[in-house]
Amino acid sequence: MIVTIDGPSGVGKSTVTKELAARLGFEYLNTGAMYRAVALAVLRLGIRPSDETAVTAALPSVRVEVPPGCILLNGENVTTAIRAPEVSRGASEVAVHRAVRLMLVAAQRAAATGHDMICDGRDQGSFVFPTADCKFFLVADARVRAERRAAELAAKGDMVSVEDVMRDQEERDRRDALRELAPMAPASDAMVLDTTRLTTNEVINRLENVVRDLR
Ligand code: C5P
Repeated sequence: MIVTIDGPSGVGKSTVTKELAARLGFEYLNTGAMYRAVALAVLRLGIRPSDETAVTAALPSVRVEVPPGCILLNGENVTTAIRAPEVSRGASEVAVHRAVRLMLVAAQRAAATGHDMICDGRDQGSFVFPTADCKFFLVADARVRAERRAAELAAKGDMVSVEDVMRDQEERDRRDALRELAPMAPASDAMVLDTTRLTTNEVINRLENVVRDLR
């Protein structure tokens, strides 16, 4: 069974995905981490993430693997390194390039084959797994998303203003929504859930009930 959870930056997809997978006994795939790994690879090579020709030329030397719970770049565990702010920005830039998307979409489909899996991202229900058994698209007020993310960062000792987080999220969301191939969008058969006034636990409970009803 494939469950997809898509939505904009900072809406809480990865937290919800991880917890829902634990409750249901599913595996999970955080596809944003894969775009981040490609961004980290090209930044390390001194390539600008927006340079489509150079990024495409570098792809044969970029191997992204997704064993449960971590992400490997050419065999190195980069789970922490991909969370740096310049990698977030770079991920959103490399995600526009066709060759990057085609490489990662193939890897995502291969990773899910034969598994009960929850995949989170921007295009999982609309493009990568059009026949997924259950599709969700989470949305929330932009300021609330930014406040949540800023609080998360502050808890890690990273003090960033809500305004800065909001600006960064808006830029990434715009790029994701406007790109040509597989733009961020709810699939026509996705359930759209506004989480603005819900706690994380309430969101997970709702999704869990829907998936359990379908099983
Ligand atoms: O979800 P996360 O913020 O880690 O994703 C990093 C970037 O990767 C996003 O800003 C988005 O541009 C890109 N992405 C994507 N398609 C996905 C997942 C992420 O384009 N399925």
